[in-house]
Parts: sequence; C-alpha cells; structure tokens
Amino acid sequence: MPAYISAIRISIWVIFSGVILQASMVLCGFPTTLNLHRAFPNNQRVELSQLVARDRVRHGRLLQSFNGVVGFPLSGTYDPYSVGLYYTEIKIGTPPQVFYVQIDTGSDVLWVGCNSCSGCPTSSGLQLQLNSFNPSSSSSASTISCSDKACSLGTQSSDSLCDSQNNQCGYQFTYGDGSGTSGYYVSDILHLETVTGSSWTSNTTATIAFGCSTQATGDLTKSDRAVDGIFGFGQQSLSVVSQLASQGITPQVFSHCLRGDSTGGGILVLGEIVEPGIVYTPLVQSQPHYNLDLQSISINGQTLSIDSSAFATSTNSGTIIDSGTTLAYLAEAAYDPFVNGITNAVSDSVNPLLSKGTQCYLITSSVDQIFPNVSFNFANNASMIVTPRDYLLQQNSIGGASLWCIAFQKTDGQEMTILGDIVLKDKIIVYDVAHQRIGWLNYDCSSSVNVSTNSSTGTNKNTYINTGQLPSSSSSVNTHHMISHIAIIGALLLLL
Ligand SMILES: *[C@@H]1O[C@H](CO)[C@@H](O)[C@H](O)[C@H]1NC(C)=O
Ligand SMILES: *[C@@H]1O[C@H](CO)[C@@H](O)[C@H](O)[C@H]1NC(C)=O
Ligand SMILES: *[C@@H]1O[C@H](CO)[C@@H](O)[C@H](O)[C@H]1NC(C)=O
Ligand SMILES: *[C@@H]1O[C@H](CO)[C@@H](O)[C@H](O)[C@H]1NC(C)=O
Ligand SMILES: *[C@@H]1O[C@H](CO)[C@@H](O)[C@H](O)[C@H]1NC(C)=O
Repeated sequence: MPAYISAIRISIWVIFSGVILQASMVLCGFPTTLNLHRAFPNNQRVELSQLVARDRVRHGRLLQSFNGVVGFPLSGTYDPYSVGLYYTEIKIGTPPQVFYVQIDTGSDVLWVGCNSCSGCPTSSGLQLQLNSFNPSSSSSASTISCSDKACSLGTQSSDSLCDSQNNQCGYQFTYGDGSGTSGYYVSDILHLETVTGSSWTSNTTATIAFGCSTQATGDLTKSDRAVDGIFGFGQQSLSVVSQLASQGITPQVFSHCLRGDSTGGGILVLGEIVEPGIVYTPLVQSQPHYNLDLQSISINGQTLSIDSSAFATSTNSGTIIDSGTTLAYLAEAAYDPFVNGITNAVSDSVNPLLSKGTQCYLITSSVDQIFPNVSFNFANNASMIVTPRDYLLQQNSIGGASLWCIAFQKTDGQEMTILGDIVLKDKIIVYDVAHQRIGWLNYDCSSSVNVSTNSSTGTNKNTYINTGQLPSSSSSVNTHHMISHIAIIGALLLLL
C-alpha cells in the first residue's frame, strides 16, 4: 500500500478483568423471498458507477411500490455484562451469504471478514455462527478499481486508499480502542428487508460497495464478543446509508430505538421516526462523525460549573453520538463536576463509596426514585434527559443493598465526550442527515413507532411499525451475571 490512511472509529470497548462473558442468543431466520439478478458475469470487474446507474432505475421503481420501510432487525444489548453491542444480520451476494455486523454510527464503512482474512475470529462467544465473505462464491461480486468514482470520493474522507500496484480500492481503519482492520472494496448485492406492521419482507436488493477485510488486529481478533464485521452508519459517501440515499432507494435519514432491557434488540429503520416530543439539535458542520454542540449539563435545574472549552468542537474535542461505543465518555474537565453533582443530589439517602477509583453507591431502594435525571443541554434548546439507568450500572449486592456505580468514563487527556449505547438506549434517535440534525426522545423501544419516508415524488409516506410483535432476533433472555469485582476500565482513547 502506498499510503496508510487511518480513519478514526470512536468505538471503545469495555475491558473486564476476571469476568467471563456469556450470552445465549437464539437467532431466527428471516423470510427469504429473494429475487436475484445475475446482472454481470462472475467476477468481472465493473465500474461501481455503472452498476449504480443500472440499479437506480430499477430500484427507483421498486421502492415506490413498497408499503414498508427498509429496516434492519436488531439483536444485542448495551449491557456490558451480557453482550455490550447491538448488531444486525445482513445478506450479501448471489447466492446470499449471511453476516452479523455491529451497528456503528461512529464509522462509515460496512465491512465483513473475507475468506482470506488473517486475524479474523472464527468463533463467537455470542453463540453466533460466524461467516467469511468469499467474493468468488458470489456471481454478482466484483472488485472496485482505484479509478472508480466511489473510491476517489472515499479517499477524501479517509475511507479508502488506492493500491496502485493492482489498481484495487482498499482501506485501512484504526479504531478508537487501537484495534484495526484492512482490506479491499467489493461491489455486490445487499438484500434489503422492508418492514410493515409486524412483518418483514425481503424482496429488494441494492448494489453497494463494502469492505472485504483481509486482516484484523487488536480486539477485533478476539472471539468473546465477535461478530463478522462492522456496519458503519456514518454520513460520508461510502457508508451504506449514503450509497442507498444517493441511489434514490432510501431517504437521507435513519432512526434507531435500542431496547435497554435484557431482551435487547430494537428498531433500526432507514426513515424518520415521527413521534410528538422529539427535539432536534443541529449537527456540527464539517465533522467526520455525528458531532453535536453540547453546551451545558444540569442536574435538578442547576447548571454544573464546567469550563465551556470542555465542550468545544475540534479535532480531539467535542461531543459525538456513537452506537458503536458501549458506555459513555465525558471530557476530562466535565467528569468530576458531573460525578460530584450526582453525589451531592443523593447524599441524604445513599452511601457513596469509591471502588477502584469509580464512584459507587450502596442503595436499598429503587435507583429511579433516588437518583436525579441529568439534562445534557445541546444547541437549539434541545435537552437530552439522561436517566439514572443511563449513567449507572448495577454491580453485585452486598447484604440487602445493591451497589450501583457511575458507568460514565473519563476520557483521560482528551476533551472528547462520547455518548454510547448506555445513553442512546431507551430513546428514539433520528439521524436526519438531509437536514443536518439529530433528534431524540426518551421512549419505550418495545412499543411501536411511526416512520416517515418522503418519496422522491414529494409524497409523504407513513408506515406504522409494530416492533412489539416483530419476530425478535434475540428471543432468549441473556443471563445477567453478577460481577464480583468492579472492573470497568475505559480503554485508552487513541486518536491518531
Ligand atoms: C414484496 O413482497 C410482498 C410480500 O411477499 C409483496 O406483497 C410485494 O408485492 C413484493 N414487492 C415487490 C416489489 O415485489
Ligand atoms: C426522568 O426522566 C424520565 C424520562 O423522561 C421520566 O420518566 C422520569 O419521570 C424523570 N424522573 C424525574 C425524577 O424527573
Ligand atoms: C431557549 O429557551 C429560552 C428559555 O425558554 C429562550 O429564552 C430562548 O430564546 C430559547 N432559544 C432558542 C434558540 O430557541
Ligand atoms: C402513528 O400515527 C397514527 C396516525 O397519526 C396515530 O394514530 C398513532 O397513534 C401513531 N402511533 C404511534 C406509535 O405513534
Ligand atoms: C418529509 O416532508 C416533511 C414536509 O415536507 C418534512 O417536514 C420532513 O422533514 C420530511 N421528512 C424527511 C424524512 O425528509
């Protein structure tokens, strides 16, 4: 490779010591009514733009006739003691090959381990059947050349690089936890599922560019919570959501509602969840991630005294929302005021104690009654209500009391604030890329939502999604393990 360009994925894993992670997951298949098209001969190299042009016509038509919205069935939980990530099942290629991929709004690209991958795990502690993509087993796969427009666009956002020796469009990503992956781009068919009411239908396809990883390093080689790859939902040109939107297949907006209970899963749709009460804040412009303008944090109406520079957006400071991060990370200057604010608010009714540097509380009644809601106040008067279950994690019980600890971590030496799954769960989150804004609302994600996708003809299409009745991908309950040691150590945030 002529140049190593590192993309930053702000995804941090929680490191455990002396904790065995176990989860039992049962994954049901999805209805498979697939219309496959053998549009091009085996492995012939075709320009992606050519495929895109060909498909745009077909899919523009196809989607008009749908009643449903494109959705991805979700599994997994935020709970670092059971799964600690949300993932979906995707099908790519002809015939379709099945992959489990982590939902990550902190990176752009969809990639899966390829058959030649060195370091990719082959088994998963999540009881998932791992798979590797074999381009030569898919009649619709073709590699993407350096000269392809998608490749040069991707280079601008560090999502692609050119291997001029064999004219192949490649990538190399280094993630926030220091792990990494590299490989080359492939163009192939993604089988999309649409959801209407409580039923999934799988009868449309789109040709997309995605990564075929030939190497994994760091935590991405570990099998304890391994999946086949990562599904980046970022806003740069090579993300699947951007590709589908530019092909006119889906709107430039997607939404999720991650269930915070032990069942996990939730809703992930390409469209806008509409619900009264959703508040929006503008995205900070020209940022690689979903950066928001956090202005203050308040507890019981009192604004915490935090230097406003802690919230400024620059290369290594600012606030992002990232479904690929399990917990939440606060800028260094905001951390102590945040923890002290909570401790002061509950000092009358609980016993605060420090455990390995983490602030914990021994309580005998419900956290919801004792602990305050914390308000994260963003630009445009948009407040995010962070409930006790969004910032505390239950540890073991001591006698008749239970021990809850602050789950937020301090980003040492950084002024980065990252709101991960523990905060994003139990909320509708709307990523409205078209209008460059993010919306949210505290919500019970086991109930139904309405989704709006405006078609290109300007008509507003509303679809009622009743996920309460959807065949859940994670139908079994994950065993919650009692942890004997408090051993949550935030991994170092490496910003390269
Ligand atoms: C997709 O499948 C559903 C249910 O099988 C059917 O009603 C619908 O007409 C199909 N749509 C297309 C475009 O084939
Ligand atoms: C905290 O916020 C949640 C969600 O908005 C709400 O249901 C709850 O009543 C609030 N609790 C308090 C003490 O205000
Ligand atoms: C935010 O709310 C305050 C108080 O309700 C109001 O005075 C102010 O104009 C609002 N700002 C914006 C940008 O809406
Ligand atoms: C969806 O929209 C319909 C019509 O506006 C409304 O009656 C219904 O309550 C909404 N459902 C949800 C879950 O918001
Ligand atoms: C759909 O159209 C309505 C009205 O024009 C607009 O307010 C809304 O933001 C649009 N939604 C999407 C997903 O583009």
